[in-house]
Amino acid sequence: MTDLVFIFGKNWMLSLAELIVYLEDRGLLRELKDYSKMGAVVTTSRPVKDGDIIDIQGALGGCFKVARLFHTYPLLLLKDAFPNKGTAKRAARNNLEDFPWLHEVFGKPRGKKITYGVSTYPSQTREAPAHYLHFTRGMNEYIKKQLLEKGAKKADYIVYDKPDQRNPRRINTSLWPHTIAKHKLLKRPNAEILAVFTESSVYLARTIAVYDSMLQQYRDESRPFISAEISTSPKVCRTLLTLAGAKPGDTILDPFCGSGTLLMEAALQDMNCIGIDIDGNAVSGTQRNLIWLGKDLGVHINFSIQKGDAREADKIVHSQVDAVAFEPHLGPLFRKRQNWDEAERIIVELTLLYRATLKAIGKILRPDGRIAMTIPVILTHKGDISIDIKQMLKGTEFEVYKLLPHHVFSKIDMSKREIDINTNRTILPERKRGQIVQRAVVMLGRG
Ligand SMILES: C[S@@+](CC[C@H](N)C(=O)[O-])C[C@H]1O[C@@H](n2cnc3c(N)ncnc32)[C@H](O)[C@@H]1O
Repeated sequence: MTDLVFIFGKNWMLSLAELIVYLEDRGLLRELKDYSKMGAVVTTSRPVKDGDIIDIQGALGGCFKVARLFHTYPLLLLKDAFPNKGTAKRAARNNLEDFPWLHEVFGKPRGKKITYGVSTYPSQTREAPAHYLHFTRGMNEYIKKQLLEKGAKKADYIVYDKPDQRNPRRINTSLWPHTIAKHKLLKRPNAEILAVFTESSVYLARTIAVYDSMLQQYRDESRPFISAEISTSPKVCRTLLTLAGAKPGDTILDPFCGSGTLLMEAALQDMNCIGIDIDGNAVSGTQRNLIWLGKDLGVHINFSIQKGDAREADKIVHSQVDAVAFEPHLGPLFRKRQNWDEAERIIVELTLLYRATLKAIGKILRPDGRIAMTIPVILTHKGDISIDIKQMLKGTEFEVYKLLPHHVFSKIDMSKREIDINTNRTILPERKRGQIVQRAVVMLGRG
């Protein structure tokens, strides 16, 4: 058993859903111990090596960092040591400075040059339980003092407390991937220490794997066929693959493959790729992208991309597929909010397209295979309008699954939580700021 801490991307609920599905599919989830809008703490059902942690992070679209938990503090101690208002309690500060975990994280510091940094992840509740900036700086200082007292030759910490680029009023208290890479914080004895605040505790963990933003950007920008207007984000593609239950070695179908972003993500996880698109340019673009990726990685990618209509997927694909994941055609690319009637007309049309596609998929998907897809949410002057899932599934073999299943949260007392979870949810939004056609994610199967 291993206790792991996962740091979520922007869309915390979808990230949490993805994490649960990933771990449950692999029989790895023993217990979800705690969560906040920033991350989750999980006990695995078997020991997990560092290499496994790197693979888990690489497969998840919604997890920025994965870390090993090494200590848990009750929130009250932190409230007293770094109060949001008023003065700190000396006893609480002294208690904190003890660090029984120092050896576990840094080994024997004597004679070593150590670089580290504390990244704080606030609980995002209405009222901050502690003064996060003071906490981050305080922890960095205390650790430095302890390491030097224990004979470290050098102990330097990295801080990143500049304002957030997206929201200048917010101060960043966590380190970004490029800072972690630049200062080699994942290489022992160096460390990035995560302090994740939830509504009951503060979890301290050592980061093992971080989202490689530079590699992702390189792939996005260097692939030969780029179609910014239609492309799905690679992170969303990874989330869809996880929700569809796709595993290395599986054959994946994307019946609306566009520029092939999802199939590239599948290929990166050693999956076999089948793609369909009605547009010949998209077909040759996806082929070029997959050939480029294979050359870049120095591996052979198994793929078959064909021009055709997703509604006839069963006539185009002649073998069984293990999982189906896709962002379908989402209707016209609107620049302004629509009127309700026009949006409704499009939604009806798309519902028919998706229903026919799902019927065709039913004929080629493995009996226990799953489907994960996005659906459009169109913003109109009168409110949002989206696909009625019941209508979409009429006459198909599929049902919609709950994304945050109740049994996973049974040990967490939700009644006391400010940030609670609706365990009946079958649709989760995947919002992109500024777009008129937003998306949501669903997971389907035969029940
Ligand atoms: C939103 S894009 C997919 C984007 C893709 N996930 C990517 O990252 O590039 C939808 C794609 O569906 C294709 N399409 C539209 N109607 C189709 C149909 N009936 N059958 C197959 N493909 C279709 C479009 O040509 C477009 O490339």
